[in-house]
Amino acid sequence: MPVNHSLLRCAQPLTILAIESSCDDTAASVMCDGRVASNVVFGQLVHEKYGGVVPELASRRHHIDIVPVVNAALREANVDKKNVDVIGFTQGPGLLGPLLVGNCFAKSLAFALKIPLVGIHHIQAHVLANFIDEPKPTFPFLCLTVSGGHTQILWVKDYFDMEIVGQTQDDAVGEAFDKIAKLMGFSYPGGPFIDEYAQDGNPQAFSFPDTRVPGLNFSFSGIKAAFARFIQTKTSAFIEENRADICASIEATLIEMLLHKLVKATQETCMRTVALAGGVAANRYLRKQLMALADEYGWQLFIPSMQYCTDNAAMVAMATYYKYLRGDFAGLSTNAFSRMVLPTH
Ligand code: KG4
Ligand code: ZN
Repeated sequence: MPVNHSLLRCAQPLTILAIESSCDDTAASVMCDGRVASNVVFGQLVHEKYGGVVPELASRRHHIDIVPVVNAALREANVDKKNVDVIGFTQGPGLLGPLLVGNCFAKSLAFALKIPLVGIHHIQAHVLANFIDEPKPTFPFLCLTVSGGHTQILWVKDYFDMEIVGQTQDDAVGEAFDKIAKLMGFSYPGGPFIDEYAQDGNPQAFSFPDTRVPGLNFSFSGIKAAFARFIQTKTSAFIEENRADICASIEATLIEMLLHKLVKATQETCMRTVALAGGVAANRYLRKQLMALADEYGWQLFIPSMQYCTDNAAMVAMATYYKYLRGDFAGLSTNAFSRMVLPTH
């Protein structure tokens, strides 16, 4: 269905309750008339010791946390549930058990309140996080979308039309961060630990092999294996003494792999508006390097604030807002999907 932009411009009083439960964060947000009124995220500490998310434990934790998280979001926004106009929820992609908890809760509440329901694609929500604060990007733009499950360069034509121009052939970059962090002895999720230790390190202290693949696609399995070999040859005393430099060097290698392809994509598509999205977008080195590239190449650059990069429900509320204005609702028989293609017209 084509986008009715005159309808999109005509904002109306609207209170949205949004729910995100695609992985290991239970999140709820209230958005009033396009502005975030609350954004509550409960992370799950239960996975720390396993070095990754355990799907059954994640589902059970969502099941426990969903009611307190939604209540906290309503309370913080000072909104009674009777005044909610529409409920948005993450429909996929993600872990099926966790998705079903959010889906089932959203559906039941919409049924009880007799209000419409909107199903949201998780990656679409990450991209639309760029529309939460001012200034908002103008279409079309390229979005580097980097999370624990995805690494893609998207050609974003409008809110509902996103085409993949490049993507990972194996691991996502967030997964590479987490697996490398595990080899360094950090708990899950390890990306933020690498970011933190790298602050005091020298990114040029160690070099790792160039494992780039041709074209606009990415591959992170080679660099992950190279890092594992590097660590195996070092004593724990060496790793401890050089922790900051190792973190800074591997972080710079991963980020350069991303940015090299992003520059190539802007050149091939002649696009000069660039955005960033997903959990890895919280990485400070990535944000800094991207700003430097924007200066160098004259890009108009959009980066969501930190709280809207890692999984959150404000981004789901933003996507719900645009889908609601378009009249794109989910019925009560709607389902959850661990895999889902990106929206296109
Ligand atoms: O988008 P997200 O919260 O969840 C998924 O949709 O996957 O992304 C989570 C990923 C994890 O791999 C985590 O380690 C990574 O984002 N991450 C970071 C940082 N903060 C989160 N990676 C590097 N530096 C960070 N500061
Ligand atoms: Zn995510």
